[in-house]
Amino acid sequence: MADKWKIEDEFLFGGDYNPDQWLDRPDVLEADLTLMKNAGISVVSLGIFAWSTLEPEEGKFEFDWMDRIIDNLHGAGVKVFLATPSGARPAWMAERYPEVLRVGPSGGRNLFGARHNHCFSSPVYREKVRIMNTRLAERYSSHPAVVLWHVSNEYSGDCHCELCQANFRAWLKERYKTLDALNKAWWTSFWSHTVTDWDQIHSPVPHGELSVHGLNLDWQKFTTHMTVDFMTHEVEALKSAGSDLPVTTNMMMVMEDKGMDPGLDNWKFREIMDYASWDSYPAWHMPGHKILIHGETPDEEADDYRRASEEAFHHDLYRSLCNGPFLLMESTPSRVNWQATSKGKRPGMNILAGMNAVSHGSNSVQYFQWRQGRGSFEKYHGAVVDQSGRDDTLVYRECAELGAMLKKIKPVAEAGYPARAALVYSWENRWALDDSQGPVNNDRKAYVETVRKHYYCLWKAGIPVDVISGEEDLSGYELVAAPMLYLTSRKQAENFRTYVEGGGNLLTTYNTGYVDETDLCFEGGSPGPLRDVLGLRVEDLDALHRNERIYLSMEEDYPVQDYYEIVRPEGAQVLARFRDPWHQDLPGFLVNSFGGGKAYHLAGRLDADSLYEVYQIIVSDREIRSNLDLVIEKSSELDIQIREKGDKVYLFVMNFSAREGSVVLKSTWNDFLEEGEAGDEWTLPPYGLKILTN
Ligand code: GAL
Ligand code: ZN
Repeated sequence: MADKWKIEDEFLFGGDYNPDQWLDRPDVLEADLTLMKNAGISVVSLGIFAWSTLEPEEGKFEFDWMDRIIDNLHGAGVKVFLATPSGARPAWMAERYPEVLRVGPSGGRNLFGARHNHCFSSPVYREKVRIMNTRLAERYSSHPAVVLWHVSNEYSGDCHCELCQANFRAWLKERYKTLDALNKAWWTSFWSHTVTDWDQIHSPVPHGELSVHGLNLDWQKFTTHMTVDFMTHEVEALKSAGSDLPVTTNMMMVMEDKGMDPGLDNWKFREIMDYASWDSYPAWHMPGHKILIHGETPDEEADDYRRASEEAFHHDLYRSLCNGPFLLMESTPSRVNWQATSKGKRPGMNILAGMNAVSHGSNSVQYFQWRQGRGSFEKYHGAVVDQSGRDDTLVYRECAELGAMLKKIKPVAEAGYPARAALVYSWENRWALDDSQGPVNNDRKAYVETVRKHYYCLWKAGIPVDVISGEEDLSGYELVAAPMLYLTSRKQAENFRTYVEGGGNLLTTYNTGYVDETDLCFEGGSPGPLRDVLGLRVEDLDALHRNERIYLSMEEDYPVQDYYEIVRPEGAQVLARFRDPWHQDLPGFLVNSFGGGKAYHLAGRLDADSLYEVYQIIVSDREIRSNLDLVIEKSSELDIQIREKGDKVYLFVMNFSAREGSVVLKSTWNDFLEEGEAGDEWTLPPYGLKILTN
């Protein structure tokens, strides 16, 4: 038997394949194989929503069609990520066992419909999933084409049924042991909310309780817990049936029209996944459309550059999740169908977006979807093969070009990503902060935007970043930034302390260390357990009106918006002060020497350009290494990323701009795609790229 597939082996190229929609069209299924071969497709994700085809009636399983499809794919040299179909269940199941359907916050049970419409507590649903996963594993896990389990699809959502309420109470009991402890943690004597029986506890809902922050936070944590528990149940079924194939589930991170998906604490999934994967749908070429990091200075031609940074942030997060190469499980080769304006990609952008993922450690480029279906909700969604079924469309041809490139750069697949800095992103903090009623409310709390803005500053400075939870070993990082960590867990605080003591460089900001992991304020106020590390205490966190500004005076005056703090130094040295008509000389930017390291604190919110200047100070003071050390000069919208293995370095030079780009490097490199010397100076067309090696 051939060696087991590993993610480091090669780049995979492909996408979601739904032959179950075409079983009455053998001609189409046959054409698929030829079209796949010509496009360089090497993987498909199969069976994601195929439950009603696999089990059309309860207990009546039909696998013959899948046998044929997998055999044929194998014959064509295409690998299979085999899905468990739990993302949507068949109508017969909902009809016979209504408990599998979700109950919304209003208390009403959903009707059959849509997808993700199932209760993760339901014993019936769990049993049906167990049977299905067992059958799939028994039948396919030793098929040579099948290399990975694609468990479910974009887990999401919560359920408020009685089974889930009971599980929630049991989870709380396990956590707090006594009602007294729970009442204290939730501060329930406020508004007379003391709970005297576990059965009085109900999930947070609009017509009931929404104002107990500890309850809200615990419900979010519980929803993550239930989803992880459900996934564990799915994986156990596969393993008990004898499968030792690696496992992933495709995480959902960005819905550009809805902001970043807040639902599940992704960090809690790292234990049950062998490889991380995610679905990426950025809005390229949409000037001003929900660019979260940089609204202040619109420059349409530069929008794609900033969008690339937002994308890179997510790539870095998923690479960091399982600490190694990840899979770009879904993206669109052309357009989605759900944005207000679902724009297609300009020539070059599909290849560039795929290579952006690769440059940050993805070992696949995959699409939703291989072929457009003829009916229903996604018939206009982008696909490698559209309704015409042709292989000479712009989209198909650009895909084929990318497929060929990925074959060419195969050795890069075993190269790592040398992160120098780390950026903390915490779902628990996001939930607590979104819920908080503070000096600044509504969209201006903007945690996600703030983290992305910090990411942008590091990315623009050419510093490779891991995006982390803050509870990992930090000792290898030259800089750790933890912006706006309103909820600072004791574990994070301890971790930061150890890191700075041991010589590390930490950056924190306004609105840090207010509450602990149960959403209770730290006694003594902000920054809570970080007070001695930062060498300061915060007397007040104040708000500015939407258009009101004070200034941080450095070489220039940088405008401060939304938030600023009244900081009292307790050992920290003031690097810059605020210019503010009502307070004289308030510290705005400070540094504290703690153990062998430095802890920086920025006490007000800056726009991205000003924040970049602050980062420049830290980067040059602390001599943080940058990819730009290889560059003499480059145009501003060129991004440079590195993957490396030992002494072998692969340089990705990418032009995220509608303008031509140029670069002068300090030394000469070889062109990995064109083969031969690349020289040290050249221009790149709009959305062009080069991959170089030493
Ligand atoms: C993803 C989903 C796919 C498809 C795609 C469309 O979130 O996993 O099945 O619906 O969106 O953009
Ligand atoms: Zn439920």
